[in-house]
Amino acid sequence: MYTWNMIVNVIVSAIMVIEAVFALPFQSAVFFIDNEASVFESGDGMYTVIWSTSLPGTGCVTYTYEGEEYIVKDLQNSAVRTEDTVHSVRIPKAHLDHNTYTYASQQIGTRRAYVAVKGRTVTSKPVAFQGYAGQETIHALVLSDIHENPVNAQKAVDNFDAAPDLLVLNGDLVSYMTSELKFKQVLSYAHQFSGGSIPVIYTRGNHENRGTYGPKAVDIFKTSTRGQYFTCSYGPISLLCLDTGEDKSDDDWTYSGLVDSTTYVAQETEWLKTLTPDEDAAYRVGIAHMPNLNNRYGNNWIPLLTDLKIDLFVAGHKHRVNFEYQRQRAPFYQMLDGGKTNDDGFVATMLTFGGGKIKATCYDDQKNFVGEHTYEIKR
Ligand SMILES: [Fe+2]
Repeated sequence: MYTWNMIVNVIVSAIMVIEAVFALPFQSAVFFIDNEASVFESGDGMYTVIWSTSLPGTGCVTYTYEGEEYIVKDLQNSAVRTEDTVHSVRIPKAHLDHNTYTYASQQIGTRRAYVAVKGRTVTSKPVAFQGYAGQETIHALVLSDIHENPVNAQKAVDNFDAAPDLLVLNGDLVSYMTSELKFKQVLSYAHQFSGGSIPVIYTRGNHENRGTYGPKAVDIFKTSTRGQYFTCSYGPISLLCLDTGEDKSDDDWTYSGLVDSTTYVAQETEWLKTLTPDEDAAYRVGIAHMPNLNNRYGNNWIPLLTDLKIDLFVAGHKHRVNFEYQRQRAPFYQMLDGGKTNDDGFVATMLTFGGGKIKATCYDDQKNFVGEHTYEIKR
């Protein structure tokens, strides 16, 4: 027995399909990869490959591992995601390190209950991905607070002779997360400084909470914790990557009563308590956007990081370099990274790991040497 509801649904679906079929040639002409892929650390020995297209479609990553071809799709609860222009695929790190991958998206005009209108498929060039290859010296490029100033960030990065093995984007890449376009800016910076060929660590800044796309963005990274916090490693370096939430209390007028960092950070704190120190690591580094760890929405993270035997904690947010930040007493080294300066300049940091030491070197966008500091790792 057909109901009016069913009949209306069929008519609406038919109209949408006809519309999509007619629009397909025009949409196909403007369907392309608008942000090439970057490979993000997402915890528990996994990477998440993320790219975007100009129109909604599917996403998959293809590679061969130990003689077997893998086509890993962008899935959400058993279905292929088709409504989004941002595509993310989670892959074991062991599969991607020292391997080559390609990624592809097919445009989807519309998807109804029993029919979909599909457009053309765009495929990337093969990308050679690096991973830890036993090198004795490791370079990690740290960029905090880009704040939508990638040109001067690039000028600062150009001072370094060594190519990075690892990229750390330590929050506030954009000043607001009000739309998908803002998230695409994050993707563009990640690719600009990583080329999709080295791992990227992204920690969320306070500004990236602001706007309706903030919580959505966290889901895209598909981390094991489901928050923008996780642990990962690169050879002898163990990394604790934290989400410090907003920089004001939840009841501040600026959030209109629509932010609950208190609950989010409380969950993160419970997760932190479940971790144990990585005893095998030669270097244990904590990374978060906000520097004040002693009061994260009522939670003191200093004892937790102390128990995890963190050697060096790197924060951003203050927009100035301080190699010996000790506003909060802690038994580990604390460093403030630079990022965007008051006059729209930029300071970038290269961390060089080797010989039981971590050397931090900073340059600005005017080719000025900002400073250098060596942290001796005590074991
Ligand atoms: Fe910030």
